[in-house]
Order: sequence, then structure tokens, then C-alpha cells
Amino acid sequence: MTIRQSKHLSSPGSTPQQYHTRENCVNAEKPMNHIDQAANALRKGELVIFPTETVYGLGANALSAAAVRQVYSVKGRPASSPLIIHCPDLSAVRRWCGEWPESAQRLAEKFWPGPLTLVLPKKADIVDEATSGLGTVGVRVPSHPVALEFLRKAGVPVAAPSANPFTRLSPTRVEHVREVFGARVRWILDGGPSAVGIESTVISLVGPRPRLLRPGMVSLRQLEEVIGPIDLQMLAQEEPHASPGLHKAHYQPRTPVVLYQRGKEMPARGRGISLLLTNSVPGESRLMPNDPMEYARELYAVLHELDVKKFDWIAIELPPETAEWEGILDRLTKAAAPNRTDHDVR
Ligand code: TXA
Ligand code: MG
Repeated sequence: MTIRQSKHLSSPGSTPQQYHTRENCVNAEKPMNHIDQAANALRKGELVIFPTETVYGLGANALSAAAVRQVYSVKGRPASSPLIIHCPDLSAVRRWCGEWPESAQRLAEKFWPGPLTLVLPKKADIVDEATSGLGTVGVRVPSHPVALEFLRKAGVPVAAPSANPFTRLSPTRVEHVREVFGARVRWILDGGPSAVGIESTVISLVGPRPRLLRPGMVSLRQLEEVIGPIDLQMLAQEEPHASPGLHKAHYQPRTPVVLYQRGKEMPARGRGISLLLTNSVPGESRLMPNDPMEYARELYAVLHELDVKKFDWIAIELPPETAEWEGILDRLTKAAAPNRTDHDVR
């Protein structure tokens, strides 16, 4: 296939060649043969952005150090933050794990394919660049049909972080990745809006007791029902990059976010907008879904949309502190974290 380059898309400051065209984008009208081509390209060392049910991923062949290094440079992520390895099924996952405890088997049977990542001892074939030199690896079988087809055809484990610049909002629509990476990543697979909408729950099964590293839409309670008690990983100062999902400031739009509790004061300065769960407050506002699954599906898309509207602040009503909302509450807290880095990628 020849890649058409559309000159009019080039802009000063971006890479002169704009790779992203309708031709290398899979969508409902441009089906599976493009997945083949993207899978071949990935195997040979190119990057591919692919949809998952959580968020879009920026994928590289996890057996190639050079390919994985490109992920870090394109994303602007420190090499000390490990990536998740994506596989099409359980048997593929097991090839890359040094150990496979009973707890892993139980969780995999219950939640895969789906929004859960397991951290386990790793096999040497997964390049150290993908796991920041840790002896462990995060593994996941996503459920999005385009992701599964792509992973099956790739035939290699795919290391992929969320396809956003480091610390920024994750993408849940193909437009979000096109805007940011269209000029730099040749292969972008369009899988439509992500159905889950926030990143996977991450749990470590290494060590004496399982530890929750990042909450998500698979809740702590659901995990405990399957494997018993799980520790909560506290923010460990001594190992700041052991799990970047633990960083306080993460998942941030450029517009400052404040968390709003009903009955409390709204920010007074400038022009803002409130994302509400219940009835309105004075000023501009948007009603968000009351159902946590629907809320998660919408959240990043709404924030991406509002972020370009140049509000002075976005106030987000705090959701209930129940298990179904814990992943969302985590992302909202990080979006509102005070040590934000403002405009640029860290
Ligand atoms: O839903 C998701 O998980 C998405 C999609 C693309 O699969 N991926 C994603 O990747 O959110 P990323 O790189 O943005 O976040 C990966 C999370 C981080 O919190 C990272 O620290 C943790 O997984 N992680 C990965 N490997 C790990 C390891 N070996 N030990 C501890 N934490 C690990
Ligand atoms: Mg991420």
C-alpha cells in the first residue's frame, strides 16, 4: 500500500511528513486488511496506535528495544515508567510471565478480556526497556475487537502506554490521538469511542500480598471477591516511578480542575464550567451521567472537548465514595492535583 501524504496538513513546527491518512486508519468502512498492515508494521518495529475498551494505546513490539524506545520518545515519558504488555489471549500472556500463580489464573478467568492489568514476574524476552528494568511485567488482554484482531495478527507482545503525552489526558476517541500524534505515528487504528473510558485497574501479584497499584472500573471489592484481601499501595516516595499511575499529578487537562462538593463555594475568579451529577448550580454547567459506567465512558471526551474552550477552570462535582466510583474518583483527584506542570509535557 502506498501512503498518501497530504501536504496541506503540515504545519510549522510539526514533522514535515504527515503520515496519517484515511488509508491507514481502520474504521467501519475500511476494515480488516488495514489491521494486517498495521500488525506487520508493528512487528518490524513501527509504532501503531490502536483502540482498546479503556483508552487508545501507543503500541510497540515488546521484543524490540529500539521500537520500545520510540514509545518513550514520542510520548515524552521518562524511561523509568514501565509499560503494559498487551496480548490476544491467556496462553499468549503466560508465555511472557515468569510465574503464573493461582490468583492470576482466577483473575484472568474472571476479568479477561477486559480492563484489568496484572503485574507478575517477567520473562527475559520482554525487553528491559519496556519494563524500566524491573523484574516484573504488567500484562493485559483487552476486549476491544479491533485490539484483539490486531494483537492476534501482530503475533508478538505489544507494549503500550495510553496514547497521550506524559501526564496529559488519555484518549478515548480517535480524534484525540490524531490531533496529538497524527504527524508522528504512521499507523492509527480507529475503533470508535472507548467503551470503558478510563485506564485499566492495575494489581500487583508479586510479593507476599496482592497490591492495588491503580484503581479502575474493575473495583477493589470485585477483585477481593475473587482472590481475598488486597493491600492498597501507598504513594511510595522511595520508588517514585515504580508505578506512574501512582503519581499525584496525572491525567490532567490544561485547564485547571477543581473538585466541587455540593454546598461548598464554587471558584469565584474568571469564567468556568461545572460538571455536575445532580441539579444545576449558578453559572455554566454540564450534567454528567449518574451511572458510573456511563460517566467513565464520557469523562475524558468531555474534558478534551472543554479543554480547548479556554475556560479558567473546570469544577467537577465529587462522585459518591462507593466501589463503582473509585476509579473515577482517582482520576478526578489526579486531574485536580496541585503540582500540575501547566502547559508542557513532563
Ligand atoms: O487501560 C490501560 O491500562 C491502557 C491501555 C492502553 O491498555 N494503558 C495504560 O498504560 O494506561 P499506561 O502506561 O498509561 O499506564 C500503565 C500503568 C502505570 O500505572 C504503570 O506504573 C503500571 O501500569 N505498570 C506497568 N507495568 C508495571 C510493572 N511492571 N510494575 C508496576 N506497575 C506497572
Ligand atoms: Mg497513561
